[in-house]
Amino acid sequence: MLKVDHASVYFKTRDGNTVHALDRVSLDIPDNSFVVALGASGCGKSTLLNAIAGFLPLSDGTITLDGRPVVSPGADRGVVFQKDTLLPWKTVIDNVALGLKFAGLSKTTRHERAYELLQLVGLKDFAKAFPYELSGGMRQRVGIARALATEPAVLLMDEPFGALDSLTREQMQELLVSIWKKTHTRIFFITHSIEEALFLGTQVVVMSPRPGRIVARFDLDFVRQFAETGDARSVKTSPEFANLREEIRDILHGSEDLRSAAE
Ligand SMILES: Nc1ncnc2c1ncn2[C@@H]1O[C@H](COP(=O)(O)OP(=O)(O)OP(=O)(O)O)[C@@H](O)[C@H]1O
Ligand SMILES: [Mg+2]
Repeated sequence: MLKVDHASVYFKTRDGNTVHALDRVSLDIPDNSFVVALGASGCGKSTLLNAIAGFLPLSDGTITLDGRPVVSPGADRGVVFQKDTLLPWKTVIDNVALGLKFAGLSKTTRHERAYELLQLVGLKDFAKAFPYELSGGMRQRVGIARALATEPAVLLMDEPFGALDSLTREQMQELLVSIWKKTHTRIFFITHSIEEALFLGTQVVVMSPRPGRIVARFDLDFVRQFAETGDARSVKTSPEFANLREEIRDILHGSEDLRSAAE
């Protein structure tokens, strides 16, 4: 279990002011879950993910992974960012195998494992290609394979499909669900797309604008329905899906109004 307990973050800006980015956020990411954080730009989503990844310290509260406090980055948390962070001078397979090199595995073992992961993301024919030879969606798939290489306990994804066109984005969502099902990796995923959150999450948490706090939580079944039927259209066009989309839109707009009233 990954547990975020009353996490708060204050940033000191260069002009001496304080930005209250995250306010007492509590969140559980249990086994087999797909937890999605949804919120407007600047509401603290990346701050939360970066704290879970161990990239930045909390000002208050705690984060534990299977009982151990998270204080720094580790191989038990794989991270995928919005923009791919592949090394341009390394081939696809060497990019995927990078974390395994740091773990001290032999080159043959690294490449075997990396090749399996490329197969999982549908890129086994591109093992020897360089990142510049791939499309944006393919690069994000390499990023996912790389993040999975160390078999992390949780995969952290910060708007990984935000820069993709809508068709590719839908294909990537479906691919991610199949990876989640096959690998049983817990996923913490950030988006500002309501549709994406509803389609992917077993739990969706809705965040308010600064200071980011959780204003609503939903336990959902759409992703399991899709995993069983393989029919994304019928899931996304169901009345339940449409009703929740409107409900969440109201919550997001409501918290925007609260913020402008406060300013
Ligand atoms: N290193 C930092 N120093 C100062 N302020 C910061 C820092 N990082 C983030 N912030 C502030 O914290 C708030 C939350 O930022 P964050 O990046 O977490 O938002 P977000 O929800 O991920 O937004 P987006 O959807 O645009 O990516 C913002 O007001 C931002 O300006
Ligand atoms: Mg962000």
